[in-house]
Amino acid sequence: MCRAMNAKYLFAVWIVNILKVQAIIPGIPSAINNHPFQVALLSNDKFIGGGVIIERNIVLSDINAYNQLLLQYLWPSTPVKLTIRAGSSNNNEGGQVVNVARTVLVKIPENEWNDLSVSILLLENNLTFSDTIKKIGLAKELPSSLPLNCSISGWGYTRNDYVNLPIQLQVGRAMLVEDRNCNVTEPNNYLCLTGADACIGDSGGPLVCGGELVGLASDLQHCGTTTFTGSYNKIPLLYDRIMDVVKGIKG
Ligand SMILES: *[C@@H]1O[C@H](CO)[C@@H](O)[C@H](O)[C@H]1NC(C)=O
Ligand SMILES: *[C@@H]1O[C@H](CO)[C@@H](O)[C@H](O)[C@H]1NC(C)=O
Ligand SMILES: *[C@@H]1O[C@H](CO)[C@@H](O)[C@H](O)[C@H]1NC(C)=O
Repeated sequence: MCRAMNAKYLFAVWIVNILKVQAIIPGIPSAINNHPFQVALLSNDKFIGGGVIIERNIVLSDINAYNQLLLQYLWPSTPVKLTIRAGSSNNNEGGQVVNVARTVLVKIPENEWNDLSVSILLLENNLTFSDTIKKIGLAKELPSSLPLNCSISGWGYTRNDYVNLPIQLQVGRAMLVEDRNCNVTEPNNYLCLTGADACIGDSGGPLVCGGELVGLASDLQHCGTTTFTGSYNKIPLLYDRIMDVVKGIKG
């Protein structure tokens, strides 16, 4: 998570992680109308990760995330044209595909060892909201009553053997628990969760509790662990910064 890490170093770490195959990542196929705020992020029409609709023309993602860097390595292509696909359960067809006009990185840089960032993607055209395309509100505060049932979704690897990327959206249940369960000794920018785990390809995707976006998949080095930290950032820590940018964009 150190910002000084470069892509080649991360690639080496990823290869090492592949060799440590452990567990499956429980998820089940789902339909987009159950998660209408979820989008697929495409780079030159190839799937690279997830995103979350927060306004008609604004999507949150994490285009700097570890996994997406690696997917760029696997499918190198320049120049990069970013688009999002909204309103489709499948990441390779259907729905509305809209160009990303501009990206704004929102970052809390104070902790080099545990930095926190999201990418705000400004779309070239407004999405048309429907049963399959909706925005979701951001959590302003962390839920206080834990444990709490939450859901995660994405088109990332369904096993940490990194073989199969599903075409259809997968959904899993994750339980949000107290930070101390993750044995964190420093202030933690990431949510402490048990249950389903996100994997490479899920980055930028949502963790939803009580109908609000509480976390966004970010650093995904450890797939398929049942208790983990470092995968879903805490949206409330970034709330004010994100809203400042959103207000600027909306005018
Ligand atoms: C998007 O919708 C807003 C109103 O909601 C409108 O002002 C704006 O012009 C629209 N943008 C585009 C690119 O159509
Ligand atoms: C979470 O959801 C599952 C399945 O619906 C349920 O069995 C469990 O009791 C719930 N846990 C909490 C803490 O709400
Ligand atoms: C936390 O630390 C204790 C004691 O070292 C250990 O038994 C436990 O497995 C750790 N839990 C996690 C989630 O790492």
